[in-house]
Amino acid sequence: MLSPTIIRVYAVQASNRPGKSNVNRKYDGKSAVRVLGIETSCDETGVALYDTGQGLLAHMLHSQVKIHESYGGVVPEIASRDHIRRWVALTRECVAQANTGIDQIDAVAYTAGPGLAGALFSGAVAGRTLAWALGVSALAVHHMEAHLLAPMLEAGSPDFPFICLLVSGGHTQLVRVDGLGVYHLLGDTLDDAAGEAFDKTAKMLGLGYPGGPKLAKAAEQGNPEKFVFARPMTNRPGLDFSFSGLKTAAITAFTEVNQDPLAVNDIAAGFQASVVDTLCIKCRRALQQEKLHHLVVAGGVASNTRLRSALEKMTSELNGELFCPRLEFCTDNGAMIAFAGAMRLQAGESSATEMVIRPRWPLTDMHPPVKTVESRFN
Ligand SMILES: Nc1ncnc2c1ncn2[C@@H]1O[C@H](COP(=O)(O)OP(=O)(O)OP(=O)(O)O)[C@@H](O)[C@H]1O
Ligand SMILES: [Mg+2]
Repeated sequence: MLSPTIIRVYAVQASNRPGKSNVNRKYDGKSAVRVLGIETSCDETGVALYDTGQGLLAHMLHSQVKIHESYGGVVPEIASRDHIRRWVALTRECVAQANTGIDQIDAVAYTAGPGLAGALFSGAVAGRTLAWALGVSALAVHHMEAHLLAPMLEAGSPDFPFICLLVSGGHTQLVRVDGLGVYHLLGDTLDDAAGEAFDKTAKMLGLGYPGGPKLAKAAEQGNPEKFVFARPMTNRPGLDFSFSGLKTAAITAFTEVNQDPLAVNDIAAGFQASVVDTLCIKCRRALQQEKLHHLVVAGGVASNTRLRSALEKMTSELNGELFCPRLEFCTDNGAMIAFAGAMRLQAGESSATEMVIRPRWPLTDMHPPVKTVESRFN
């Protein structure tokens, strides 16, 4: 069943809560803000505390990989229930590790989409309930905006404008980023996302779940010259991608060798080389087309070491620079949600009055933060 695009649930404003707000101050638009981020879009529960003055104070992650492993993929209902089970303990641990109090936060940011409807719903209810109880803002964060901003968690982050390659389980997009919420889609996948192709190919090769890291590990033991696959859509102009045919080619090659287990590493290496080359060629094209020198790569596939080094080499050939999040912030995590929330809060965004989750939410629907500083902490 297709997920609905938008789910509206109910309306609660921090200012409507009974009793007095314990964050009874107006934001001056200058001082540091401290945000608790909650990520629950898929199969990881992430909680983090980010302070714009002090940086990342703490972050906790619970992966559901072990739970879904025996099913060969994520079971949405089980994912939602596990988020509900985990988030309170993770939040307590996160606050304790940051050596602060829960009453010291200015806002709670939660992932509002895109993602699995039930999983998003769990995090949104958690985030908004906590914000309401504390009398602080509740910020609905776009999961892909958070991925895109994740390299800024590190020192030496890029200035706008830059090109971003978003490459994850559900997305393969090239985006021109002109500012917070100012995104121009340059290229998109016409079928499978790169991470999805990694996962499906790994499954067919018998490498199991989660496929991406397992296929990447197998590829390191293989010879990429033995099975050479086409670099899809690189022989025509444009910045779109297609990985479905490559996945089929890898599976066909495996069938042709009668599923010989000795061929798995070489097929994995050939498949990975094709994905890496294709992504590199399109990123080079995007930088040249937009006359920009800074490239950001984010999302789960950005943790692929071959991809990182190939992009590093390509950007330095262009006298440019590559920015990647550290490995733990490539895949889903709470730190990027807290950071994106903090950026928007500091730029003047306030709580949405309704709890809206958007399982399908194009990045290009995003807008720069709307300044409503006066009303934010009332
Ligand atoms: N080393 C790696 N090499 C290739 N792919 C990888 C690697 N590590 C993780 N991945 C892939 O990254 C994806 C997970 O990334 P992420 O958590 O960002 O995706 P998602 O949240 O499921 O999707 P989206 O962010 O698009 O909603 C999976 O498809 C996984 O196979
Ligand atoms: Mg993700």
